[in-house]
Amino acid sequence: MNTTQRVVLFGATSAIAQATARLLVQQGCSLFLVGRNAMKLQALVDDLRVRAAPGQRIESMNADLDIIDGHAHLFDVAEKNLDGIDTVFIAHGALPDQAACEASVPLTLALIHTNALSVIALAGEAANRLQTQGHGLIVAIGSVAGDRGRQSNYVYGAAKGMLALFLQGLRNRLAPHGVQVLTIKPGFVDTPMTAEFKKKGPLWATPERIAHGIIKAMRSRRDVVYLPWFWYWIMLIIRHMPERIFKRMKL
Ligand SMILES: NC(=O)c1ccc[n+]([C@@H]2O[C@H](COP(=O)([O-])OP(=O)(O)OC[C@H]3O[C@@H](n4cnc5c(N)ncnc54)[C@H](OP(=O)(O)O)[C@@H]3O)[C@@H](O)[C@H]2O)c1
Repeated sequence: MNTTQRVVLFGATSAIAQATARLLVQQGCSLFLVGRNAMKLQALVDDLRVRAAPGQRIESMNADLDIIDGHAHLFDVAEKNLDGIDTVFIAHGALPDQAACEASVPLTLALIHTNALSVIALAGEAANRLQTQGHGLIVAIGSVAGDRGRQSNYVYGAAKGMLALFLQGLRNRLAPHGVQVLTIKPGFVDTPMTAEFKKKGPLWATPERIAHGIIKAMRSRRDVVYLPWFWYWIMLIIRHMPERIFKRMKL
C-alpha cells in the first residue's frame, strides 16, 4: 500500500472504519466514504478534510447497502470522484438479537442479508472491476464469530462464516490477476455495536487498535488476520473442540 492510494470505504461510519479512515488519511490516501447515516457521514467527512493535505480528496455518498441494486452506481460515482479505485474496504455490519432471530425466520434472513449477502455483493462488484484493471486490494471485516457456530449468536456467525469462505475463494480467483483479498477477523471491540456488553477485561480492544492492525495487514499483503493477534490462538482451540463437548458448553 502506498500513499497515493484511492480507497472506497463502505460502512464508513462504523467505529472501526472511522478509526481506519483517520490512519489512511494520515498516510496520504484519498477516500470515498459510503455510509447510511447522513449526519454521521458528514461529521466524518468534515473531520477527515481537516486532517487531509491539499490534493487529498475526501468525498462521500449516502446509501443503504442492503439495497444491492444500488451498488454498481456507488462504484461508478467513487471511480469518478477518485479518478479510479485502488482499494475497497467493506466494514458495515449489524449484530443481531439472536433470540429475536430464533423467533423470526424473516429477521434471520434480513440479518444474513446485511452481514453476508450485501458484503458479498460489494466484494463481487469490486472483484470484477479490480480484476479488469489488474491491480487492487479488497478488505472486508468478518469476525471470529464466523469460525464456529455457537448457540448464542449463530445467525451472525453463519453470515460471517459465509463471508469468510466467499473471500477465500475470491482470493484464490484474483491472485493471478494482481488483486489481493484481505479478511479481517476481530474479536471483541468496544464500538456502538457492542454497546450493551460489559466491556471489561483483556479480551476487549479499542477500534483504534483494530485499525492499526488493519493498516499493518494491508501493508504486509496478508490474507487473513485475527485482531488482536491472540484471537488466532483462541479460535484455534474453539475450532478444534469436539462437537460432543462443545454443544454442552452453552457458548
Ligand atoms: N464490535 C465488535 O466487537 C466486532 C467484532 C467482530 C467484527 N465486527 C465487525 O466490524 C464491522 C464494524 O463494526 P463496528 O464494531 O465498528 O460497529 P458499528 O460502529 O456499530 O458499525 C456498524 C456500521 O454498519 C453500518 N450499517 C449497518 N447496516 C448497514 C446498511 N444496510 N447499509 C449501510 N451501513 C450499514 C452502521 O450504519 P448506521 O450508523 O447507519 O447504523 C454502522 O455504521 C462490522 O462488520 C462488524 O460485524 C465487530
